Amino acid sequence: MRIGVSLPDNLLGKFDEIIEKRGYSSRSEGIRDAIRSYISYYEWMGDIKGNRVGTVAVVYDHTKRGLSNALGDIQHHYSHLIKSSVHIHLDHDNCFEVIVLEGEGEEIKEIAEAIMALKGVKSSKLTTVASNEKM
Ligand code: NI
Repeated sequence: MRIGVSLPDNLLGKFDEIIEKRGYSSRSEGIRDAIRSYISYYEWMGDIKGNRVGTVAVVYDHTKRGLSNALGDIQHHYSHLIKSSVHIHLDHDNCFEVIVLEGEGEEIKEIAEAIMALKGVKSSKLTTVASNEKM
């Protein structure tokens, strides 16, 4: 199937840079790969259950209107899960925040998805392990 997608210039530019570096023969091939990893990431997220510890690492533009407030609201809503967080001001506009979580996997997933869905969040990554896993 063929699809048409509108993308901002800088996003497509970065994508093209990466697929060139990685030796993809076409943009379509890169997009197929990106969609596959998006799907496998969400399938992996579907398996997050039981008591868990984890982190959500977020890069966002704090100058984006309402975004810092929205992030704060989400964290207050899930405050029972949040053990700690670290905030680094990367540059004039961008912030990096790592939120450390412990609790029910389903809820950890919920907070991660709520953060990912915010407009202005440039990247966010969830990692978790079962909290009864002794190393
Ligand atoms: Ni900041």
